[in-house]
Amino acid sequence: MPKVETILTPALFHLYNQDLTEKNVVVTDILRATTTMCVAFENQAREMIPVSTPEDALVWQQRGYLAAAERSGVTVQGFELGNSPQEYSKEKVGGQRIAITTTNGTRALEMSKGAASVYVGAFRNVQALAEVLKKENRDVLLFCAGWKNKFNLEDTLYAGCLFQSLGADFVCADDATAAAVDLYNLASPDLAGYLQKANHVQRFQTLHIESDLEVCLRMNTSTLVPRYIHGKIALYGHETMS
Ligand code: MLT
Repeated sequence: MPKVETILTPALFHLYNQDLTEKNVVVTDILRATTTMCVAFENQAREMIPVSTPEDALVWQQRGYLAAAERSGVTVQGFELGNSPQEYSKEKVGGQRIAITTTNGTRALEMSKGAASVYVGAFRNVQALAEVLKKENRDVLLFCAGWKNKFNLEDTLYAGCLFQSLGADFVCADDATAAAVDLYNLASPDLAGYLQKANHVQRFQTLHIESDLEVCLRMNTSTLVPRYIHGKIALYGHETMS
C-alpha cells in the first residue's frame, strides 16, 4: 500500500526528498496561497506561475500575465493582486494567466519541482484531491508550507484532514502524519475556533483581513485540483505543454 508522510515545515524538506520522482507531493498553505490558487481556478483563471520574487512576477507581467505579490500577509506595493482569495473574482481573473509570489506557498511549490506530481491542496478541494491521489496510487508527501520555515497549525490540520480523506488505502508512515491526524480530530468540530490561537490568524486580525479565514476553511466546495507541472499550475486533466 502507498505510504503517506508529512513534512511539517520547509526546513525539514531535505529529510524527505529522496526518491522524489516516485512520489506525489501535496503542497498546502491554507492561509492563504494554496486556497487562493484554488479559488483562482474556480473563477476560471487559465494558469498560474509561482515565482520567487516580486521582480520575477513583473517580468511575467510584461508578457501579458497578471502579477500578484504578497510578503508577510501584505500586498507588495504597486501590484494589482496580493494573496487574498477574495480578490480573485471571476471578473478579475477569469481567462487570465497569473504570475504569483507569496511568502511561503510559492516557495514550497518550487521546492517540490522534482516530484512525480505536485498538487495544490486546500480544504475546499480536499476530497477531490484525495480521489486523484487514490487513482495514482503512489507514495505521498504532504508538504506544509508553514511560516518562514516554522511549523504552523493550519497546514498541519489540513495534512491530517487529507490523510483521513484518503481512507484505508494509504498507510500512515510517520509520526508527523499521526500527529496531524490527532490534531485534526481535536480541532475539526470547530476549525475556526481552534485556529484563533494560530499565529497567522492573529496576524490576520492585525492586518484586518479576518474575513479571509472563513473562505480558507470552506470544506469540499470544489472538485477542481490544480497541479504544478512544467513550471506552471494548471487544472489537473486540463494541462497543455505550451
Ligand atoms: C504565504 O504564502 O506565505 C501566505 O499565503 C501568506 C498570506 O498571504 O497569508
